[in-house]
Amino acid sequence: MDTAHTPPSGSADHGAAHDRETVEIVLPGKVEPDGLQITRRPLPPPEEGRAVLRVEATGVSFAEQQMRRGKYFDQPPFPFVPGYDLIGTVTEVGPGVSPETVGRRYAAVTKTGAWAGRVAVPAGDLVPVPDGVDPAEAETLVVNGLTAWQMLHRVARVRRGATVLVHGANGGVGSTLAQLARHAGIRVVGTASPRHHDAVRALGAIPLDYRAGDLAAQVRALAPAGVAAVFDHVGGPGITDSFRVLARGGTLVSYGTASTRDVAGSSHLPVLRLLLRLAVWRVLPNGRRTHFYNLWAGRRNARRFRARMRRDLGTVFGLLADGGLRAQVAARLPLTEAGAAMALAESGTVIGKVVLVGSEEG
Ligand SMILES: NC(=O)c1ccc[n+]([C@@H]2O[C@H](COP(=O)([O-])OP(=O)(O)OC[C@H]3O[C@@H](n4cnc5c(N)ncnc54)[C@H](OP(=O)(O)O)[C@@H]3O)[C@@H](O)[C@H]2O)c1
Repeated sequence: MDTAHTPPSGSADHGAAHDRETVEIVLPGKVEPDGLQITRRPLPPPEEGRAVLRVEATGVSFAEQQMRRGKYFDQPPFPFVPGYDLIGTVTEVGPGVSPETVGRRYAAVTKTGAWAGRVAVPAGDLVPVPDGVDPAEAETLVVNGLTAWQMLHRVARVRRGATVLVHGANGGVGSTLAQLARHAGIRVVGTASPRHHDAVRALGAIPLDYRAGDLAAQVRALAPAGVAAVFDHVGGPGITDSFRVLARGGTLVSYGTASTRDVAGSSHLPVLRLLLRLAVWRVLPNGRRTHFYNLWAGRRNARRFRARMRRDLGTVFGLLADGGLRAQVAARLPLTEAGAAMALAESGTVIGKVVLVGSEEG
C-alpha cells in the first residue's frame, strides 16, 4: 500500500495539531487492493450538528469490492475514502450536539469515509452501542445486521416454523440473516461453497452448494412445497431459480447483483434488468411476492429513517449483548492494512466480516 503524507497546516502546538489530524485510506481509482493509499490530513473542528469519532472498528463490505472496480450502483467519484460503517467513540462535538455524547461509543453507517482514524458524522446518525460489547464484534452487525434484520422482519415477515433460503450463508449479511432466522424459529437452508458448509451448519442452517447444479431441485428435496422466502444477493440468471423455489404466498427478497461484480460494463444495467424482472413477476398472478431491498430507501424522511435504524440496530445489538446472536469476525487487521484486509475479504475463504481496527491515536 502506498504512503502519502499531507502535512497539517503549521501549528506549533503539536498536541493540538495531532488531535486535528487523521489517517485515511484512499481508493485512488480502479486499483488492486495493494493500490490503496495511506494518507494523513488535517481534521477541521466539527461543524454544527456533527460529532467526531475515533474509529475503533470499521470493515470490508461487498460494496468496497464493487467500488474498487467502479461497479457500485451509487459509485462515488475517485479518489475517495471507502468505509461503509464504523464503531467509534466520540472525541469532540460541534455546536448543537450534546457534550454528554463525548466519550460514548456509537455505531454509524457512512457508505464511504469510515476507513479513517477519525471521522465527522452527523450526530443524528449515531446509534448507541451497549456497554461491554466488543467494538469489532459490533462492527460486523452494523450494515449486515440492519440489512438482515430489516429483510427478515420488515420485508419478508416470515413465520416461526417456516423454511427460508439464504444465499451466501457464510457471508457478512448471509451469516447474520441465517442466525436471526434461526433465533426466530425459522428453518434455514443456506447456499455456500463446500469449504464453508461446516460453518453454515454451525449457524444452525442446512448447507447447499450453489455450484453443484440444479439448485431448485436441491431446495425442493428439502422443502417440497417450496420456501416461505428467498434472500438473494446474487442476481443474474440464478434469480429465476430463487423465484421458482418459492411456496405460494412466499417472498423473494433480492438485494444485490454479486454475480456481476467482475463483469465489464455498466454498474447500473444489471440492477435495472433485475428490477424489471422483479416488477414483471410482481404484476403476474402467481401468488408470490418480489421485493428489492435497499438499506437507504426512505432516507428522504430523515427523522423516520433514523428512528427505524436506531430501533432495528438497537434490537440487533441487544441480541449480540445477550448471546442471541454471535458476531462472525473473519479477521481483525489494523486500519493501515486495509489492502490486505480487502484481498482477504475477496479471497472466497472467509466466514463473516473482515474488520479493520483503529489505533488509540486515530
Ligand atoms: N441492497 C442493500 O441495501 C444491501 C445492503 C448490504 C449488502 N448488500 C449486498 O449484500 C451482498 C452481501 O454483502 P456482504 O458484505 O455480506 O458480502 P460478503 O461478506 O463478501 O459475502 C458475499 C457472499 O456471497 C457469496 N458469493 C459471492 N459471489 C457469488 C456468486 N457469484 N454466486 C453466489 N454466491 C456468491 C460468497 O460466497 P463464497 O465466499 O463461497 O464465494 C459469500 O457468501 C452484496 O451483494 C451486497 O452488495 C445489499
